[in-house]
Amino acid sequence: MKPTGFYETERALSEYLLFHYGSARQVLPWAFGPVEALDFPLRCVTTCLDANRLPATARALDLGCAVGRSTFELARHCAEVIGLDHSLRFIEVARQLQTHGSFPFFYAEEGQIRLPATATVPPEIDRHRVAFEPGDAQALRPTLGRFDVVLVANLLDRLREPRRCLDALPELLNAGGQLIITTPCTWLEEYTPPALWLGGYLDQEKPVTTLDTLRRLLEPHFDLSRTLDLPFLIREHARKYQWSVAQATVWRRR
Ligand SMILES: C[S@@+](CC[C@H](N)C(=O)[O-])C[C@H]1O[C@@H](n2cnc3c(N)ncnc32)[C@H](O)[C@@H]1O
Repeated sequence: MKPTGFYETERALSEYLLFHYGSARQVLPWAFGPVEALDFPLRCVTTCLDANRLPATARALDLGCAVGRSTFELARHCAEVIGLDHSLRFIEVARQLQTHGSFPFFYAEEGQIRLPATATVPPEIDRHRVAFEPGDAQALRPTLGRFDVVLVANLLDRLREPRRCLDALPELLNAGGQLIITTPCTWLEEYTPPALWLGGYLDQEKPVTTLDTLRRLLEPHFDLSRTLDLPFLIREHARKYQWSVAQATVWRRR
């Protein structure tokens, strides 16, 4: 289990820098393995966003941005992007990446053996379009304004009250705006009391899935455009990985 506070640790920082910015060879130094699960933060944008439908002045919000790779990728298409995360350490490093374009770190090879690497923002991305701020996706500051894109990647099952985040979404999106939600539906008591899970439980013996609940809560305000399965790979060390399949849903604000 990843206890509360995990996302403030140096281990989490190292894993997420590699997850967001590591090369294929650094993440998966094998001649075999699930290569289609690489580059998840990049694919959240390239696979899910309909860039042709964005206004020139588009604003985007990346909720639970971690160390910011998707936030930067959104800046290829949007004039202003806010990356927001609860982890002060992640936001501190995302800001370093925004300012300098790179950040040196070490990642785990085996035990105490760690390899040096440098996280680098693709140089063609205009980093001035991006701002990172600490915050709670369950209690967003009311002055955030409205957005043309909101990305909620692998956040919901790490919140204590995911419904509070979902309840805020209709007010965050402009009409026609794109909402991209991905979740591996890994509901854990350590993060979310079971009574507040969005799915993965029985209601009078009927299975309730996360997608069932997302539809029930979002369809009054959004049209569901697409559902996709997005694999992702988090390296713990050279010989141990978390391979997961996020369920992505893409919604359009009415
Ligand atoms: C599983 S990670 C996903 C990060 C990133 N979106 C990705 O796909 O790589 C969950 C992220 O949510 C952040 N987080 C946890 N609780 C949060 C909250 N209440 N508000 C905002 N971010 C939160 C964590 O710090 C972490 O960066």
